[in-house]
Amino acid sequence: MMSLQEDSANHDGQTLNDRVEKLLSFIYNHEGLDEARGNPHKILAIVDEFAIQNAMMIVGGPKGEIVTELIKEKQPKIMVELGCYFGYSAILFGDAVRQNGGERYYSLELNPDWAAAARQLIELAGLQDFVEVIVGRSDVILDEFYRSGKVTNIEILFIDHYKPAYLTDLKLCEHHGMIVPGSLLLADNVIYPGNPPYLEYVRSTVEQKREVAKSGPPKGYNTTGLLERTVKSWMPAGDAPFLETVGNPNIVYHSVLRQPEGERDAIEVTRCVGVQEA
Ligand SMILES: C[S@@+](CC[C@H](N)C(=O)[O-])C[C@H]1O[C@@H](n2cnc3c(N)ncnc32)[C@H](O)[C@@H]1O
Repeated sequence: MMSLQEDSANHDGQTLNDRVEKLLSFIYNHEGLDEARGNPHKILAIVDEFAIQNAMMIVGGPKGEIVTELIKEKQPKIMVELGCYFGYSAILFGDAVRQNGGERYYSLELNPDWAAAARQLIELAGLQDFVEVIVGRSDVILDEFYRSGKVTNIEILFIDHYKPAYLTDLKLCEHHGMIVPGSLLLADNVIYPGNPPYLEYVRSTVEQKREVAKSGPPKGYNTTGLLERTVKSWMPAGDAPFLETVGNPNIVYHSVLRQPEGERDAIEVTRCVGVQEA
């Protein structure tokens, strides 16, 4: 399976759309498809076969296992994912949430073509009544979740989309009071390609965050230490976060890196363990 960086080397929309079409054609022509229908793991095994030869920016098995273990442990009713692509992680984690007594998996995706492909795969996996793919910008949708009451508390948030938005989306959730003790944040690609502003924030103390918050809401995205390529991916140039906020610096996080053996990337596992009053 190739990495995000290799995938990004071809990061023009046409190439990626071609790849999704190629993937769908591979799946629909696969001799094992009839047997795999309705079985999430068998559908993912077909995708894994395709990914051996074709660059796909998917979470993959070893990091995926870390997330599924945490789903088993926490047993969320609702899980939210930022960045669906064509639905690999939505199928893997949606199945785990369903198997552990959950009610819904929401997967947010900016690109309508990939969301459409994801819905096809999710249906093949038999998860169409459980996993909902929502097209749009993550910050706009998270804000709508809060305002409509669809999701008011984050149980598990899997973050795997526009790298500069990891931090601004987390702060938006904090601002709305969606991050509560017990909320679990699972951030992918924190080593490769890396996300220093996000890691610095979730590993900071309340005192450090309060100090930074004194200068008010940041303007735009903090792209310090991010690869230029990742900053230029997906979102239109000059785009700004939907809500510029300091979040809630009083939230106490316990944050650890989980890196599978032999993997160059890792998941940052962050728990909200309390709120420290001023
Ligand atoms: C690394 S891929 C997600 C991979 C997927 N989670 C998996 O493991 O199968 C990142 C996806 O995030 C989407 N994306 C980027 N910025 C976004 C945003 N602001 N809101 C929603 N989706 C976004 C991209 O279009 C892309 O499909």
